[in-house]
Amino acid sequence: QVEETLTRLHAAGSVSDVEAIRVEALGKQGWISQLMKTLGKMTPEERQTEAPRIQGLRARVADAVEARKAALEAAELEARLATETLDLTLPAPASPKGSVHPVSQVMDELAEIFADLGFAVKTGPEIEDDWYNFTALNMPESHPARAMHDTFYFPDDAPSGGRMLLRTHTSPVQVRTMMAEGGPLRIIAPGRVYRSDSDATHTPMFHQIEGLVIDKGIHLGHLKWTLETFLKAFFETEDIVLRLRPSYFPFTEPSVEVDVGFAIENGKRILGGSGDAPDHGWMELLGSGMVNRRVIEMSGLDPDEWQGFAFGVGVDRLAMLKYGMDDLRAFFDGDTRWLAHYGFSH
Ligand code: PHE
Repeated sequence: QVEETLTRLHAAGSVSDVEAIRVEALGKQGWISQLMKTLGKMTPEERQTEAPRIQGLRARVADAVEARKAALEAAELEARLATETLDLTLPAPASPKGSVHPVSQVMDELAEIFADLGFAVKTGPEIEDDWYNFTALNMPESHPARAMHDTFYFPDDAPSGGRMLLRTHTSPVQVRTMMAEGGPLRIIAPGRVYRSDSDATHTPMFHQIEGLVIDKGIHLGHLKWTLETFLKAFFETEDIVLRLRPSYFPFTEPSVEVDVGFAIENGKRILGGSGDAPDHGWMELLGSGMVNRRVIEMSGLDPDEWQGFAFGVGVDRLAMLKYGMDDLRAFFDGDTRWLAHYGFSH
């Protein structure tokens, strides 16, 4: 019976056939298990010869079962590998990948450019006391310039006795930094600002970078050089022509609005050249000026000792110019298709 079992195992064509034969021999009712039970009724002498014989049988059959199972499993795997094909040259499905938002990217680039010029980065609160946002910047309660800002006010009283508001510009960081550190200073202050305004070129939240230099003997020439240097670095071209226009801000005197020249090609604005050239125009880029001596005074410094210049740039506008985007509102829609169109994420 052993030989027969071994022969059948050898001939078994599948793992389930092997399993059936195993049960017949080694299962609870199997013939080897039955043989084992006969040991109990034997005399000790008989048992001494029979026990090793039956154990041996059982071991041979068990080994043969395992060997045949392993062989069949290996063969099944071989067969499956032979039929299943896997094309490793197929491109993997694209997994969506995030990227740095254009506005954040521009802020990082600007911080880097100004770091090379020796400017440190400072920040201030977005929920601001109206004293820092207006009063200390030479816009007292009654000042008509306050009406220029469509300000979001909070109902709460501010520590200064005025009101809390969402800052309308990054200029309050000028005051905070002068008060905290005194002169000399060379800083930029990037951040979010808020105005109640919304169309294709205005969003109620947008981004500015403030620049402030406080030192001795600072004049408009320093301002012009700094702006030219940073704009050339930012737009990666020497072909930047600036136009400085007299303007008015309560916190600078004199105040200068800065335009940059652009050409119109195929209906698109391309930076470069004088705006007065044919097929060219000027685009308003930023506000700036020499820090008003009243602001220096209210920030705790002596205006006869310290002078400086300041500027405020719209970061979103810079990003639109650099990447050729035309609707500011799309910046904050979080639509990845729009970002992908301009090469941000895919
Ligand atoms: N704070 C001004 C604005 O928001 C810009 C500015 C900053 C002008 C610094 C002059 C100096 O429009």
